[in-house]
Amino acid sequence: MRLEGKTAIVTGAGSGIGRATAKEFAREGAKVIVGDIDGPSGEATAADIEKDGGDAHFVKVNVADYESMKNLVNQAVAHFGKLDIMHNNAGINSPPHSVMDMPIDDYQDVVNVNQNGVFYGIKAAAGAMKENGGVIVNTASIYAYIADRNRFAYHASKGAVVSMTKSAALDLARHNIRVTAIAPGLIETEIVSEWKKNPEVWGKIEKAQMRRKAGKPEEVAKLVTFLASDDASFLNAHVHYVDDGAAAFKR
Ligand SMILES: NC(=O)c1ccc[n+]([C@@H]2O[C@H](COP(=O)([O-])OP(=O)(O)OC[C@H]3O[C@@H](n4cnc5c(N)ncnc54)[C@H](O)[C@@H]3O)[C@@H](O)[C@H]2O)c1
Repeated sequence: MRLEGKTAIVTGAGSGIGRATAKEFAREGAKVIVGDIDGPSGEATAADIEKDGGDAHFVKVNVADYESMKNLVNQAVAHFGKLDIMHNNAGINSPPHSVMDMPIDDYQDVVNVNQNGVFYGIKAAAGAMKENGGVIVNTASIYAYIADRNRFAYHASKGAVVSMTKSAALDLARHNIRVTAIAPGLIETEIVSEWKKNPEVWGKIEKAQMRRKAGKPEEVAKLVTFLASDDASFLNAHVHYVDDGAAAFKR
């Protein structure tokens, strides 16, 4: 078990990538704090882990609020005694507007969760890890690197996650805290459910993938678990694609 004896927080763990990662962390022996803004889905993830014999505890968090993030980290330390792994994963999609028509409030909502939420998570977790070291894994996106139409706020926020990952890795190296990120491509979760509702739209999207299909949250969770483990002890500051090659070719 690669995470035996470790304590981890996963934000956005009520659904999709976060849920799969929380479960994979637990399977690999970690004690997991399930963080999510949605009570019932977060509780369900924690219950699922416990049912499978793991150790999990749900804490409600709004990652866009630093006080709430600090409470999440404090509760993790209070509950399990320490914090070794932080997966800053919670995120929301961009309302579909071009840059010219983007309402300021909509832009700020996306940045508050996807960008500021990652900053708050790094800052709060680093405070708890500074004596004994640790690992922080941030969820970026291939949309930090390639652009799609009408998703300006999402691109802006995910680009920032890439830069914050590098900067934080450099600042926190002296505390033996590694900071890495992942860049998922199309993954079948709630966040893409609007597209999935329309079979024609979804068919087109899947066809544009290299092997004509979306990824599963569990396929992302395997990468996050590797990055969080000592198997990745010399990996730092970089972003790791998990996109079946989507960001590597012209569509
Ligand atoms: N699914 C994809 O295709 C894809 C691709 C690239 C990147 N991502 C990123 O992966 C991450 C996880 O997304 P997902 O696909 O699993 O989506 P999802 O909608 O299934 O899960 C997101 C979770 O985050 C929670 N959340 C939202 N706002 C929150 C807040 N303010 N505080 C705390 N929790 C909050 C939601 O309640 C939900 O449980 C996001 O950062 C997303 O941008 C997803």
